[in-house]
Amino acid sequence: MDVYEAVTSRRSVRGFTDRPVPREVIDRVLSAAAWSPSGSNIQPWHVYAMGGAPLAELKKIAVERVGHGDPWDEREFVMYPPALKSPYVQRRSAYGKERYSALGIAREDWEARQRAAIANWDCFGAPLALFCHVDRDMGLPQWADVGMYLQTIMLLLRAEGLHSCPQMAWSQVRKTVAEFVSPPAELILFCGLSIGYEDEGVRYVRTGRAPLDETVTFVPGGPEPSARSR
Ligand SMILES: Cc1cc2nc3c(=O)[nH]c(=O)nc-3n(C[C@H](O)[C@H](O)[C@H](O)COP(=O)(O)O)c2cc1C
Repeated sequence: MDVYEAVTSRRSVRGFTDRPVPREVIDRVLSAAAWSPSGSNIQPWHVYAMGGAPLAELKKIAVERVGHGDPWDEREFVMYPPALKSPYVQRRSAYGKERYSALGIAREDWEARQRAAIANWDCFGAPLALFCHVDRDMGLPQWADVGMYLQTIMLLLRAEGLHSCPQMAWSQVRKTVAEFVSPPAELILFCGLSIGYEDEGVRYVRTGRAPLDETVTFVPGGPEPSARSR
């Protein structure tokens, strides 16, 4: 698989089979992902990998916890700005529409949306999850490093025939995760990453993207468009 195919075939998969992910595969992916770049090469990521009985138990407890309507753990980082402005707010709402239309859920059906959201804490059925942490002393550039690292993992997983779903949802029940992974106090749980083989029977709508000229500006005088791309 070439890099373009890995990038375009990666998506947040929300339906996995229970086929186990062999240890040597995830070892290979994480060993290669260690080559991700980071400012001054400080490699500020801390990952806990979990599968088997411990993950099954964590999922069960987390799903029960959320199902009972227990409050979220207090936030250790701001997930989104409190008032998301344009164009981000429209993009977020378009994503919500895509996601719930695939599940046949009406926008106003809050209960059905909640039920669908609970699948987050079952890792959408995935047999393996990574819990990615960052040291609380780290600043914005190091959080960006962690993002690059996660994307590298997700692309390598495609090369192995695997899919993934990054999930900040896990940070909302971070204390439950901590009971299983016992991270040192200086670590913040950024997100989970569910990993497995896709259940191809699960319906989805591919999320769209903003047109290139909304997010990229070519400064005049730089590379000119070729006759073919004009
Ligand atoms: C840091 C991060 C956190 C995310 N958290 C969640 C989550 O908690 N639950 C979920 O279903 N998707 C989550 N996503 C997936 C995004 O919704 C998804 O990446 C986006 O809609 C684009 O779709 P695609 O990944 O399928 O291309 C997260 C993605 C990122 C990068």
